[in-house]
Amino acid sequence: MDKKSIYLREFDIPQYSLREPFLPSAAEIAAKAMPNLTAEAVSLEVGSDWLSLQQQVSVCQKCPLCQTRKNTVFGVGNPAADLMLIGEAPGATEDERGEPFVGQAGQLLDKMMGAIGLSRENVFITNILKCRPPNNRDPLPTEVAECMPYLMQQIAHIKPKLILALGRVAAQNLLNTQTPLGRLRGDTFHFGAAKTPLVVTYHPAYLLRNPADKRNAWVDLQRVQKMLTE
Ligand code: URA
Repeated sequence: MDKKSIYLREFDIPQYSLREPFLPSAAEIAAKAMPNLTAEAVSLEVGSDWLSLQQQVSVCQKCPLCQTRKNTVFGVGNPAADLMLIGEAPGATEDERGEPFVGQAGQLLDKMMGAIGLSRENVFITNILKCRPPNNRDPLPTEVAECMPYLMQQIAHIKPKLILALGRVAAQNLLNTQTPLGRLRGDTFHFGAAKTPLVVTYHPAYLLRNPADKRNAWVDLQRVQKMLTE
């Protein structure tokens, strides 16, 4: 069984249901990713503005979440990625490790990426909030307002070809809307001054609770794959 079939099986998508062959472009997307770089090369590659942004986030005290966090969670992946994934906020495991999507939902996210030929190394994954809200409650509007400039700077630096909003909280905050997630899926929005194309899919934690919707998530992911190669 090839690698893609394994990812799809793990993502609970039976291959017999696919009516069209995979786009060969998944391999092309992966091939475009930056090769693994040494720490010195990374600093040359990403530039001082990125490193200084990382530094600012790591000591941020703009909202009360700084008092309860263990670690800030800046984001992970390729700072020159074509695809940027934006979730809600770190959970307990992410707060502990300082890395986004490392719990169970993160494992599913890795499988979702794998199903379209991508991995943590060739996308950039971050959240609306860089600190964990206590008891994983929804981010407060004041917290989002304080944290959003960091995300805007990340987007301005990365200049992704496409943003994928993961779940209701990310989507509604990025799009400044109260429209339910189900009505946001399937459309292409344009984010910020650069009008970066933005699409919406389910949060992987939601998919863990509602596996029947993985099929719809797969439809979203195939759209993402197509948009990245257009
Ligand atoms: N859920 C999120 O939205 N982000 C994470 O980093 C982890 C879980």
